[in-house]
This record gives sequence, structure tokens and C-alpha cells, in this order.
Amino acid sequence: MPLEPPSGVYRLSLNENLFLPREFIAEVVSKALELVDPRLYRDAYGEELAGKLAEFHGVEASEVVVGAGADHLIYLLAHLGRDGGVAIVEPTFEEYERAAKLFGAPRVKVLLDEEFRLRPERVLSARAGLVYMASPNNPTGNQFDRGAVEEVVERFEGVVVVDEAYAEYGRYTLIREAPARENLVVIRTFSKAWGLAGMRVGYAVTNRKLASLLRERGMVFACSSLSLKAAELMLERWGEVAKAVEEAKRVRDWMREELGRLPVRAYPSDANFLLVRLPVSSSWARERLLERGFAVKDVGGMPLCENCIRVTVPPKPIAESFIKALKEVLER
Ligand SMILES: Cc1ncc(COP(=O)(O)O)c(C=O)c1O
Repeated sequence: MPLEPPSGVYRLSLNENLFLPREFIAEVVSKALELVDPRLYRDAYGEELAGKLAEFHGVEASEVVVGAGADHLIYLLAHLGRDGGVAIVEPTFEEYERAAKLFGAPRVKVLLDEEFRLRPERVLSARAGLVYMASPNNPTGNQFDRGAVEEVVERFEGVVVVDEAYAEYGRYTLIREAPARENLVVIRTFSKAWGLAGMRVGYAVTNRKLASLLRERGMVFACSSLSLKAAELMLERWGEVAKAVEEAKRVRDWMREELGRLPVRAYPSDANFLLVRLPVSSSWARERLLERGFAVKDVGGMPLCENCIRVTVPPKPIAESFIKALKEVLER
């Protein structure tokens, strides 16, 4: 069973995409290997992929910065925010904080409200040269109200980073407006909807000036020629990827409905995972689920997330077994 890792545990803790068959990914990567010569250095800054991404999104190649996963861009941006300090909209992806720490940037935390909505006035009152927010947000799953994000972009004095790692599962994207804004950087990745987490390719779209600054700070030859080519070929397969995204969204919504029959609160999601608040300790439930073959992420320690777990949406048969396992755990 290709979906089952050798350990016998379904990994629903890293938001990988199991809806694209392994054979499909292998076909694309094999073709990429035929097209590149791994003996050679190629595209110091992923220029060819940047060109293809620009066409795909309707922006200019000079407005796209390619990196080794979204994480790479997150780290480059932390360097940019080093002097003015970094604001982080929480609860969120832990890598922003790690990146800011690594570059010694002072950090300010900005909380979402109880319903996980973005409050622009809270961000605007934070003193920082750069703010990170993920939308759709991890671990809450919701995509912030577009007007609220735009208000921040319009009024925040520093750089606004909107991490759209999960935007293919969401309702809108800010990519097209990023080049025209002075201070907006949108981050995307091939790790989620595109099924290439292990290949490590991500990118940012922003105005030309910020893009060249990021490129200057970046590392030459950060991405392997194989990864860059695989990502490029994957763009040509968007039709198939989009179908898998639609299927994941259907299962996500079905799963949330099913979870509604249990004594838990499953929050609405615009991503490929669900945030679920349990009536019991999330660390205890995580251990019990693991005994039943499901690894989930315990996010109970994050602000506003008491007793919450985050669960990647898997294909339907696995989702069914997961719900059964959770039901058993809660009945104990
Ligand atoms: C919000 C967010 N951004 C970025 C990443 C990492 O993406 P990548 O694999 O491209 O580094 C993740 C992974 O979980 C994520 O949740």
C-alpha cells in the first residue's frame, strides 16, 4: 500500500499531499532526470523555473524568486527584517520564529482573535520592519479575510510577508497584486498541492526591487537541477494537480462534517488539513492515535489552541479509518 509508510503509521502530521499517486510523481521526476545532466551546474537562481512561474501566474520573471522550499524564502526574509524587528501573527508555523531568532531579529507576537481572524489594528500597532503571516494559516486552516490582509499591506510601514503555502486549497491569492505593491511578498511552495515536498522548491513573488534584494541575499545553486526541472514539468500538469486539489477539498469537507458527529470542534479549513479541538488533552490523544497507527500534530501548546490537534486530510479510506480511531480514543 503506497500510502502507508514502512513504519505502519499514517503520517498526518506534516500536511503532505497523498492525493497525487506516487506513480504520477515518479513519472514527472523521471522525465526531469532525462532532461538534465546532473554533472553540470545549472540556473544559479532557478531562472528558467522563474520564467515558467511568471508565465503561469501572469507576472514578470524578475518578480519571482526561487528557493529551496518556502522555508528558504522565510529565512531570506528574516535576514531582511533583522534591523527593524519581525512581527509574527500567531498561532502559526514555527519556522518564522526560528528564522527570526537565527538572524537575531527582535520579535513581536501579534495574536489572532478567538475565531482566528486577522485583526489589522493589532498588526499595525506592532513595531517591526517585517511581518509574517500565513494565509491560509497553519495550524488554524483558515484563509484570512482578503480585505483585512489588504488593509495591513496598505498601512503597515514595513514588509508584509503573506505565506500562501496552502493557497491552492484556499479561496484567493495575492500573487497578482504583489508586483505592484511596495511592501508585499507572497510565498508559495511545490511541497503541498504540487506533491513535491521532498524535492524542496518554493518561490516568492514581489516587486522587482525586493525580488533582486532577496536574490542578492540568497545562495547560488540552492536548488538542485533535478528539483527545478521537476517543478517546471509539474507546472505543465496543473490540470491533474488541480483535480487532486479538488478531491482533497471534497474529503476535507466530508471529514469536517463527520467530525461534527463527535464531541470535538473541527474548524473550517481552506487548506489540506483540519484543526480539531478535543474534549481531552491533545498530547494524550496524540499518543492514543499513534498506538492506532495515526500520527497527528499536537498543537495544544500554541496560543489559542488548547487541546487542539492538526490533522492532514488523507484520501477517503484513510480518513474513514482515522475518524473511527479518533472515535475509539474519545470513547475510552
Ligand atoms: C505555512 C507554511 N509555510 C511553509 C511551509 C514549508 O514549506 P516548504 O516545504 O516549501 O519549505 C509549511 C510546511 O508545513 C507551512 O505550513
